[in-house]
Amino acid sequence: MEKIRELKIKKIQSPGGSLSFFEKNKEINFDIKRIYFIYEFSKENRRGFHAHKELKQVMFCPHGKIQVEFTDGRIKQSYLLDDPTKILVIEKGYWREFVSLEEGSILCVGASDVYDEKDYIRNYEEYLKWEAQNNESTI
Ligand code: TYD
Repeated sequence: MEKIRELKIKKIQSPGGSLSFFEKNKEINFDIKRIYFIYEFSKENRRGFHAHKELKQVMFCPHGKIQVEFTDGRIKQSYLLDDPTKILVIEKGYWREFVSLEEGSILCVGASDVYDEKDYIRNYEEYLKWEAQNNESTI
């Protein structure tokens, strides 16, 4: 999907551990105003089931394995976050669901704005109507 980018970021390895990073105006094109993380994420558990009207996000999985599924109501696209050096940069407007494929996986999200429930669409039928009107996510 054009407005969802999967990027491979650098890994700086040393005997004591590894370090990775991404930053504005390089991998991402927005300021991060909020960070949240889903942890103790049980295997086979599914979350998400929403879209954001305006919010942009960057997602990565520093531990475990998570499948992230997006749709704009027409095309579906899945991404596997199974390595800390994979990041997903997501523009507004996509319906998303997350599945943990390993017990205790962690999903970290950097978001372009503070939490605002009004930015969420949590009903799929409502999302399809919104998408048809806004046509934000045309691929
Ligand atoms: P939600 O975004 O629905 O999580 P998921 O997509 O994983 O199912 O958020 C779950 C609950 O947490 C919901 O009641 C809203 C609350 N929440 C906050 O208060 N602040 C936040 O930044 C986030 C992401 C969620």
